[in-house]
Amino acid sequence: MADDVVATVAQAYGFTGPAVDLGALVADGTAHPEAQIRLPLAMMNRHGLVAGATGTGKTKTLQVMAEQLSAAGVPVFLADIKGDLSGMATAGEPSDRVTARAASVGGDAWSPAGMPVEFYALGGKGTGAVVRAKITSFGPVLLSKVLGLNEVQSSSLGLVFHYADSNGLELDDLKDLRAVITYLTSDEGSADLEALGGLSKATAGVILRELIGFEDQGAEAFFGEPELDTADLLRTTPDGSGVVSVMELPGVQEQPRLFSTFLMWLLADLFHELPEVGDVEKPKLVFFFDEAHLLFDDAAKEFLDSVAQTVRLIRSKGVGVFFVTQTPKDVPRDVLAQLGNRVQHALRAYTPEDAKALKATVSTFPKSAYDLEELLTTLGIGEAVVTVLSESGAPTPVAWTRLRPPRSLMAQLDPAQQASMVASSPVARRYAQPVDDASAYERLRAREQALQPPSQPPAKQAAERRTESAPPAPERGTVAGIFASPVFRSFARSAASAAGREITRSLFGTAPRRRRRRGIF
Ligand SMILES: Nc1ncnc2c1ncn2[C@@H]1O[C@H](COP(=O)(O)OP(=O)(O)OP(=O)(O)O)[C@@H](O)[C@H]1O
Ligand SMILES: [Mg+2]
Repeated sequence: MADDVVATVAQAYGFTGPAVDLGALVADGTAHPEAQIRLPLAMMNRHGLVAGATGTGKTKTLQVMAEQLSAAGVPVFLADIKGDLSGMATAGEPSDRVTARAASVGGDAWSPAGMPVEFYALGGKGTGAVVRAKITSFGPVLLSKVLGLNEVQSSSLGLVFHYADSNGLELDDLKDLRAVITYLTSDEGSADLEALGGLSKATAGVILRELIGFEDQGAEAFFGEPELDTADLLRTTPDGSGVVSVMELPGVQEQPRLFSTFLMWLLADLFHELPEVGDVEKPKLVFFFDEAHLLFDDAAKEFLDSVAQTVRLIRSKGVGVFFVTQTPKDVPRDVLAQLGNRVQHALRAYTPEDAKALKATVSTFPKSAYDLEELLTTLGIGEAVVTVLSESGAPTPVAWTRLRPPRSLMAQLDPAQQASMVASSPVARRYAQPVDDASAYERLRAREQALQPPSQPPAKQAAERRTESAPPAPERGTVAGIFASPVFRSFARSAASAAGREITRSLFGTAPRRRRRRGIF
């Protein structure tokens, strides 16, 4: 009986093209190296989900996948939430456990190896090349999500961007955006505010206060120039390995919305920048979206639709997105339906809530001979239930799999070594110094100074930031009103059209950038 199963599974996963070796089939309680469980590279742009309870092996699974992708010349992006992925930059340490696991799963013999890693640090918090975005390319939708704005406020922020876009006011950083809103709510800007239609002074005031609160939490570090060029994430080394971009995220727990929207921005930006390639032999990039539930938690319907759309469209750009989270329940149905490759680690069933999540998880798997409810709660650490898309695009049989051990270090990299790698990185050097070119803030400032009587004491300007926000009046604008306004409609049109005279905003209202292409390395 088991022999049949082993043979069937071995055949179902015996792809002809290059594939990531995940591990070996487990049957009758033992691993069967003759049935290797693999994931075809050509199917990685059909996306995936790596799920499981805490400590069940998700991160090590990412590590195993990332290592083989890199070796196959595919660049990889990973967010290092717990700091335990930095070890990928150096060779793993042999141990009895690793050797025993490697021997039990078979395949290529285990040998330690480090990967070509480039470290990034969101807003420079952590050790890595500083990741920043210009406010204008980040766009109003993602920024609204970060600020926790409601629908009316978020539409209003869209109008502020529209105003800035069409008046040549570059929004590089938060103070640019603040300057534009301040101007619109001032006496001087009232005609422009009026002309905008759907933006009330009260709502603008609320947005301004949110922005100031956000800046007070140190958010300036995340926005401005030089902005991360996503081309940096697509590099290969001179010997043809894919660069593994590891984004360090210490303290992400404090700003979860910021982190998840930034990852979304990266994806939207990759979408803008990459050409259509259709289906490819191997992906251009595989992007692991860790702690994905943070992106979906209390997100508006439109936002979720945009996520689903991005995921759907980016496939033809050759980018594979793998969401990483505890249970498939964390991922909205429209997105989950697009995740063709699944590695499900163990789940717990302690609480009624857990039991519900377990049932929901089981229902998302193709039919199989397994009692998945039972199996998913009894899987060992570093084991998973796997189903992937075969080279012909059909789901493979569900397979209980023991994962291979990673070849790189399964722990945090020595911080001194990491710091010295970053110090000698040309990429990190390029992003090290913030640049503050003349943009909206400087332009509006210059204009204000030109209009001001010379006797104005400079102290007023310093105090201005605190006092300029509009009074906290109740909100009046209605959503319907905003959507009906001619300005909003023209904004929506320009956002939807492929080419406009002003900045054309597309996915999430993010803006593509005109930029110089740099050579690889
Ligand atoms: N494929 C594997 N090879 C060797 N050891 C593994 C493997 N998977 C898991 N382990 C062991 O299990 C431990 C926990 O795995 P891991 O850190 O990947 O869990 P996790 O699901 O990412 O947990 P968390 O949700 O807390 O981040 C590892 O430190 C390692 O010792
Ligand atoms: Mg982990």
